[in-house]
Amino acid sequence: MLKKDKFILAIESSCDETSVAIVKNGNEILSHFIATQIKSHQRFGGVVPEVASRHHIEEITIGIKKALSDANFKISNLTAVAVTYGPGLVGSLLVGINAAKSFSCEYHLPLIGVNHMAGHIYAANYVKKLQFPLLALLVSGGHTELVYMPQRYKFKILGTTRDDAAGEVFDKVGRVLGLAYPAGKAIDELSKSGSDTFHFPRAMIKDDNYDFSFSGLKSAFINTVHNADQVGKKLNKNDLLASFQNSVVDVLTTKTEKAINEFSGIKQFVLAGGVAANSQLRASLSNLIKDYPNIDFIPAPLKLCGDNAAMIGAAAYDQFLQGNFSHLDLNAVPNLSFEHY
Ligand code: KG4
Ligand code: ZN
Repeated sequence: MLKKDKFILAIESSCDETSVAIVKNGNEILSHFIATQIKSHQRFGGVVPEVASRHHIEEITIGIKKALSDANFKISNLTAVAVTYGPGLVGSLLVGINAAKSFSCEYHLPLIGVNHMAGHIYAANYVKKLQFPLLALLVSGGHTELVYMPQRYKFKILGTTRDDAAGEVFDKVGRVLGLAYPAGKAIDELSKSGSDTFHFPRAMIKDDNYDFSFSGLKSAFINTVHNADQVGKKLNKNDLLASFQNSVVDVLTTKTEKAINEFSGIKQFVLAGGVAANSQLRASLSNLIKDYPNIDFIPAPLKLCGDNAAMIGAAAYDQFLQGNFSHLDLNAVPNLSFEHY
């Protein structure tokens, strides 16, 4: 352990994962606890906020203890404690924030409040040190955003979804076909044996902006399924899902290409968020970037695409270097956006 090494205990509890990690210098995971609540929410077809908060309360202290013991780490060697303070579910965020504040108070450690979406981008820091300017496509259950970072910890949203987020539509169309929540991974797998025979709409693909809209695609999908049901027609499930996925991937790739062409000098292109685990999306974007030899494509590691505390620790390290600390009045900001920076 060198004197200049920084060790951050990071906490993430914004949605349905309670996670705690110990991160060294923003790019090395010493321990990582992730308790997922998916099973509890599955029977409701989505996350129930009240149930989520209760689970976080049960898991948070267990997680902190486990992260410290797994890394065989002495609290006195910690440099700071970091926590997600938004965006997310208010009750869930508050559990992590209160745990982090108590920890910070008890052990006299600086507190760092982290934006969850910034965390998703910093998951890529475990693959390669982030270099600026960079472009990031953030695709998760609650967000679809193209983000430009001119320098460390500066974010400019180029475009966002006007309605449903990409992950949200994956989960909703999956539900119509009876797939368990969250349906993204299953759709990814089933699509591999289907093809784009339905040619669903690709909303806003040619528009002169970086915004997205996926609710029309969702309606087209649901109407196709219901119309077939009404006349007793059986549709090929894999083709339906492949057609849906092709539409999402096509729009995301086309808008990314537009941004890459219009923002010169981009060094890296980061793909992050839960939907970044999608194999077709990863392949399509990797193929796109081949035409831009000066841009490094960095998809977040598969294990760090979903919500996790390691990504929060990586983002917190950059905040630490900037002296960007929080006070004990840190509160949950459920609709926190990059514009707050
Ligand atoms: O980032 P995340 O774990 O949670 C939020 O912050 O929202 O994203 C969860 C979303 C879910 O909608 C899930 O269906 C989707 O990521 N997802 C996928 C895949 N794996 C997870 N979507 C498409 N393809 C996948 N392989
Ligand atoms: Zn997330």
